[in-house]
Amino acid sequence: MEDKLSKIVSLAKRRGFIFPGSEIYGGLANSWDYGHVGNELFNNLASLWWSKFVTERDDMVGVRGTVIMNPKVWEASGHLQSFTDPLIECKICHKRIRADKEEEKLTHEESHNNKKENPIWTEPKNFNLLFKTFIGSVEDQKSAVYLRGELAQTMFTDFKTVLDTNRLKLPFGIAQIGKAFRNEITTGNFIFRTKEFTIAELEYFVKPGEENKYFREWQNFMEEFLTNEIGIKKENLNLYEHPKESLAHYSKGTIDFQYKFPWGWDELWGLASRTDYDLKNHENFSGENLKYKDPETGDEFWPYVVEPTSGLDRLMLAVLLESYSEDEDRVVLKFKPKLAPYKVGIFPLLANKPDLVKKARAIYEGLKKDFEVVWDDRGNIGKRYYSQDEIGTAWCVTIDHQTLEDDTVTVRDRDTMKQGRIKIEELNNYFEERLK
Ligand code: GAP
Repeated sequence: MEDKLSKIVSLAKRRGFIFPGSEIYGGLANSWDYGHVGNELFNNLASLWWSKFVTERDDMVGVRGTVIMNPKVWEASGHLQSFTDPLIECKICHKRIRADKEEEKLTHEESHNNKKENPIWTEPKNFNLLFKTFIGSVEDQKSAVYLRGELAQTMFTDFKTVLDTNRLKLPFGIAQIGKAFRNEITTGNFIFRTKEFTIAELEYFVKPGEENKYFREWQNFMEEFLTNEIGIKKENLNLYEHPKESLAHYSKGTIDFQYKFPWGWDELWGLASRTDYDLKNHENFSGENLKYKDPETGDEFWPYVVEPTSGLDRLMLAVLLESYSEDEDRVVLKFKPKLAPYKVGIFPLLANKPDLVKKARAIYEGLKKDFEVVWDDRGNIGKRYYSQDEIGTAWCVTIDHQTLEDDTVTVRDRDTMKQGRIKIEELNNYFEERLK
């Protein structure tokens, strides 16, 4: 199974989905850049998430906050004190690892044992995950700021403004997609754990006492999204309820949506019950009233918060793993067509026949307005199918001599490899129907 990850990493580089960042300088530990098709796939995932979690719902609004916020935010949120991993240090080589990563500890000890050394670890020390930087020319504590470690804090600091400007009533949610940064000690497994990553996150504000009901509603909503919209198989998803002692400092209950990654079950997404912890703390630290006033009763209170959080890079990895298939002599990424970086590949049968190329160009230009389309006139048709399959292009359209006579083309389906002749004027409908 581990082997599948290496195959994905190599395909992702070969076809330009994902490759190491700053590679000409030897890269930077676990930083990955997304190329054209990777970026298209990522955008398709992000916009599907936004449509389903925000636009198509009446109880959701969106925001786009800054990465650097007033440092008091992180004091009030508890991140400066509690957003930590326990670290131990090897007294021989001074390598630091997370105290809770037993497997890494053993591998490290083994490498020393092989050299007849007996490593001793220091006592665990807490290491803060927030990236610190400085505003202005003087690097002292007064000018210290942090790159955001989660997106949620914007939704709490902007709570009152968003509430008033959108005339919202409980229950309602505020969503955001953007980058978060964490100085992770253990990175790895490709894009699974990196130091910067994109989260799609929402804070759903409810009346205290109603949080359990909405927690279950969001749990079902997320599960439905992952299986029906994204196409993740049910048997590859597992819900893991965190025991009380391993909860994040702000949470009274958390469920991980685990995916069956090649190295085992691991967290894909999360759902947390954050109570009124954040609004209450921000009110205490800022002195601003962050309570909600019930329009009917006039009661003022801090709403409780249910927080579905969706790591988009982990989703991208799960989608690549889920779609990867080796069918006889070809490798295919069987994305749901709506997620595919390209919906249609346009092939003029012979690149040196001007009348064929002209006809194919006209079809290409026509479809381009409505779909993500790619032009491919390299090599023979077999090679073109081979490379489009590896990118996951949902359909390929070949323009040949018969096209010039009767305005029909061959459409080949990526998954079944079945081919059929279709009238050019019917192409739009044909693809639209199948993208629904
Ligand atoms: N506001 C809650 C929050 O940030 P989290 O579980 O710490 O919760 C949210 O992170 C999601 O972000 C995770 O479920 C995961 O998908 C993703 N994530 C967390 N750390 C990550 C990392 N180092 N690299 C990539 N994705 C990460």
